[in-house]
Amino acid sequence: MDVTKTKKVYVETYGCQMNVADTEVVLSVVNAVGYLPTNEAAEADLILVNTCSVRDNAEQRAQKRVSELKEHKRRNPDVVIGVLGCMAERLRTVLVEKNNLVDIVVGPDEYRRLPKLIEDAKAGERGIAVKLSRVENYDDITPLRTEGISAWLSVMRGCDKFCTFCVVPFTRGRERSRSLKSVVDEVALLSRQGFKEVTLLGQNVNSYNDGGADFADLLRAVAETDSAMRIRFTTSHPQDMSDKLIETIAAHRNICKYIHLPVQSGSNRILKLMNRTYTIEQYLGLMDRIKRAIPEASFSTDIIAGFPTESPEDHRMTMEIIKEVRYDGAYMFKYSPRENTKAFEMGADVAEELKTERLNEIIELQNGIAFDINQQLIGTDVEVLVERDSSRSTEDLLGRTDTNKKTVFPRGNAAVGELRRVRIDRANAQTLFGTLLPGTN
Ligand code: SAH
Ligand code: SF4
Ligand code: F3S
Repeated sequence: MDVTKTKKVYVETYGCQMNVADTEVVLSVVNAVGYLPTNEAAEADLILVNTCSVRDNAEQRAQKRVSELKEHKRRNPDVVIGVLGCMAERLRTVLVEKNNLVDIVVGPDEYRRLPKLIEDAKAGERGIAVKLSRVENYDDITPLRTEGISAWLSVMRGCDKFCTFCVVPFTRGRERSRSLKSVVDEVALLSRQGFKEVTLLGQNVNSYNDGGADFADLLRAVAETDSAMRIRFTTSHPQDMSDKLIETIAAHRNICKYIHLPVQSGSNRILKLMNRTYTIEQYLGLMDRIKRAIPEASFSTDIIAGFPTESPEDHRMTMEIIKEVRYDGAYMFKYSPRENTKAFEMGADVAEELKTERLNEIIELQNGIAFDINQQLIGTDVEVLVERDSSRSTEDLLGRTDTNKKTVFPRGNAAVGELRRVRIDRANAQTLFGTLLPGTN
């Protein structure tokens, strides 16, 4: 055994799945210089917070956690504390100036420099590494995945869409794709390691491009690497969702029939101001094409309430699109002004109380729809991939259907990693509850 591997690293991760995947890259990079992961901040030599900037409350939460974690450094000055991710990229030196005890600030494209920055920090130097890259995609680094049967796999980084409300193009830089071969090789490795599900990640996976191979080509190659492995992907941008991609999803049993397709608003005027590059008519046309090709597909979306200048009529149109599409699920947010974005310059913010009111209406409507959709499943049999113990009871297991519905059932003879059939007995807007049906597979 390598006796130098006694140092411990503790990481907290906020934000999207790309950050979760990046944390696994970071763990791999610091593991190479002797740090083993721990779940206890108190026993860590290195404490990292991987942050999100997408909304103000995400940043507030991260700031608060960084302040709290500094307590460990007060107790033991040898501890190195670092802020990683999108907030590191956005706030840079401000973070170090404000947070006297933060040693290193590292943006999403600079994780290879962590070992050096950590060494320098130990010698008393503060380090800031926030250059964005046009090429970095960490495709030669095997992420250190610590648990579960389901893996995240980044296939592209950055975003070139520049939606006017969004910081991601500024915190993550330009779009770049990993090679198809490196993705397929990693999926083959995951399969050998016993993973049962992989989610291909990118801010905008539909823009994937490796010398002419597009996202549909990648998805097909991945699906054919192990036909027993479930394949998911997120996020799709409506503008680039091609018919070829829809056909590819329809044609492969192991590509999950669940599509996250953020609409953001139901008003063409607002969509234009957001620079989303599609109209509601185009979005609905796309939905129709998907539903025709994949009738069993389930859908989720992202919605922003209270974008600058949003009128009662614009809001009503958002409510309409939710009713029209009938999403299985949605991530719903109050618009949060982000400095340096175009929307920030628009001013004309909707009053806070009005944003809250509109968001609550949207949530209530959407929950009602999700509840109704799930009620339809009562009495039917679904196939679930068993993921883990249910958080509510150790007697129960939790799995997900192909359509991404969480399903809880008494464990019986089922084991994590198996595909099992479950009869649905009851359901709420978020979760299905059922009975395990006989069979080992
Ligand atoms: N790339 C993905 C999502 C990126 S961020 C996409 O384009 O769909 C995830 C979601 O956060 C967005 O879809 C949007 O709904 C929301 N979001 C981004 N910036 C926001 C802001 N300034 N205020 C509120 N919500 C925001
Ligand atoms: Fe942000 Fe738009 Fe890019 Fe999504 S597509 S990450 S919302 S700029
Ligand atoms: Fe947040 Fe950065 Fe993801 S801003 S949503 S962690 S890309």
